Amino acid sequence: MSSWLPIHCRECYSRTIWHRTYRINRTLLWMALAMTFLFSLHSLLRHLKPDYAHITSVSRYRIHFQWPLGNQTNVDLTNATTFPSHPGTAPASTEGLSEYELGSNGTRRANAVLLMLVRNSELEGALRSVTQLEDRFNHLFGYPWVFLNEVPFTDEFKEKMSAAIAGPVSFGLIPKEDWYQPGWIDEEKAAASRAQMEANNVVYGGSVSYRNMCRFNSGFFYRHPLAQRYKWYWRVEPGVSFHCDTDYDPFLFMEEHDKVYGFTISLQEWPPTVPTLWDAVKEYIAANPQHVAPNNSMAFLSDDGGNSYNMCHFWSNFEIANMEFWRGEVYSKFFEHLESKGGFYYERWGDAPVHSIGAALFARKDQIHFFDDIGYQHPPFMHCPRLHSVRQERNCSCTQYQSFDNNMYSCLRKWEQVVRS
Ligand SMILES: *[C@@H]1O[C@H](CO)[C@@H](O)[C@H](O)[C@H]1NC(C)=O
Ligand SMILES: *[C@@H]1O[C@H](CO)[C@@H](O)[C@H](O)[C@H]1NC(C)=O
Ligand SMILES: *[C@@H]1O[C@H](CO)[C@@H](O)[C@H](O)[C@H]1NC(C)=O
Ligand SMILES: *[C@@H]1O[C@H](CO)[C@@H](O)[C@H](O)[C@H]1NC(C)=O
Ligand SMILES: *[C@@H]1O[C@H](CO)[C@@H](O)[C@H](O)[C@H]1NC(C)=O
Repeated sequence: MSSWLPIHCRECYSRTIWHRTYRINRTLLWMALAMTFLFSLHSLLRHLKPDYAHITSVSRYRIHFQWPLGNQTNVDLTNATTFPSHPGTAPASTEGLSEYELGSNGTRRANAVLLMLVRNSELEGALRSVTQLEDRFNHLFGYPWVFLNEVPFTDEFKEKMSAAIAGPVSFGLIPKEDWYQPGWIDEEKAAASRAQMEANNVVYGGSVSYRNMCRFNSGFFYRHPLAQRYKWYWRVEPGVSFHCDTDYDPFLFMEEHDKVYGFTISLQEWPPTVPTLWDAVKEYIAANPQHVAPNNSMAFLSDDGGNSYNMCHFWSNFEIANMEFWRGEVYSKFFEHLESKGGFYYERWGDAPVHSIGAALFARKDQIHFFDDIGYQHPPFMHCPRLHSVRQERNCSCTQYQSFDNNMYSCLRKWEQVVRS
């Protein structure tokens, strides 16, 4: 088994886009510059007529949460180590809790977790991400953290991470069968495809470990014993930055508004990684038309009414979403269908397009939320809130000119057209 490549799934997409941006010719580059200028102008003009509707709806949900005191109630955590760094605090448990937990004051807290897939070697970047999210958001709420790895975490990792987090922290091992290439995959066929992709310079085209990760993120993380007892998750990766304060509870916001999936950045997938993904999707839809949600966002994924995929997806290294949606019958059947095609190994299907297609087709479009107010950076891309007033109120350390929203490969404009239609 070759070791994990030192880069996470999403970075691959970033690199792909990077690659592509540099390969387009000079004329296109100038056009892009001109477009960026026009968009900046456009954004500037929008400031003169700001739309405060979103902010006002969000500020209603500002709740300062106190962690309830109590004893730890552990579920069976196969081979997981739990480090409650503050004795006397309790991680969320599903027992007796349907949707919310009640704080000691009757303040509500969602049944939610901050979730990171990470390797021991990524400790430094992981600490940076965690420290920032604690500082910008979680110190007000004390949501538990769960870290997952396909090898056991080292003592150093667990100790340093626990020291950086005030609330409960758990470290889990990923079951082998959820991680490694399944035995029924025709390795000869998979190897030929990897060689071909490598020859075509597809980023991670030759990597098996990378494919393991994309498959795990697509269909397994939410079934891990440590994730199983939560409903909501915020996916965090090592080496990311949070540029603004979040003083309301985004999980409760999602819950209150019947949302299932939240994103900050959307962009286009690199086509050679998903040549037959859309065929598999169409096959699933044809066999299970009843699963497709009314008022879905097919128009975000396809420009021709579902005939072909336009490569738009939500960048899944940031997700605030409902795991019950992934665990539900519809997405589970959808994932099994994709899994049966072997495309995670015969091609290089990413969890970003898979999650995005699932959310866009099986949820209503109003159940997908764009977290404009969360400044987020996963190098090389960042999203910064668009309104000056929001950046100011939330103490953002970013500017809109750095925002990927203005990039020609961003799918945000398409998303907003879909929402408006
Ligand atoms: C925690 O458990 C201990 C022993 O099981 C018990 O004495 C104590 O009262 C419990 N504390 C709370 C807050 O439930
Ligand atoms: C809890 O309730 C008390 C009395 O109602 C109040 O003074 C206190 O500020 C509350 N704490 C929080 C965190 O809301
Ligand atoms: C947990 O550990 C036991 C004993 O070390 C081992 O047999 C089992 O396969 C492990 N389970 C997982 C899910 O790794
Ligand atoms: C779909 O959207 C239309 C118009 O926005 C609305 O009237 C209808 O109730 C929606 N249907 C469902 C099932 O949400
Ligand atoms: C921005 O910073 C100020 C000063 O530290 C703080 O009072 C305020 O709550 C912060 N804004 C948010 C949205 O947290």
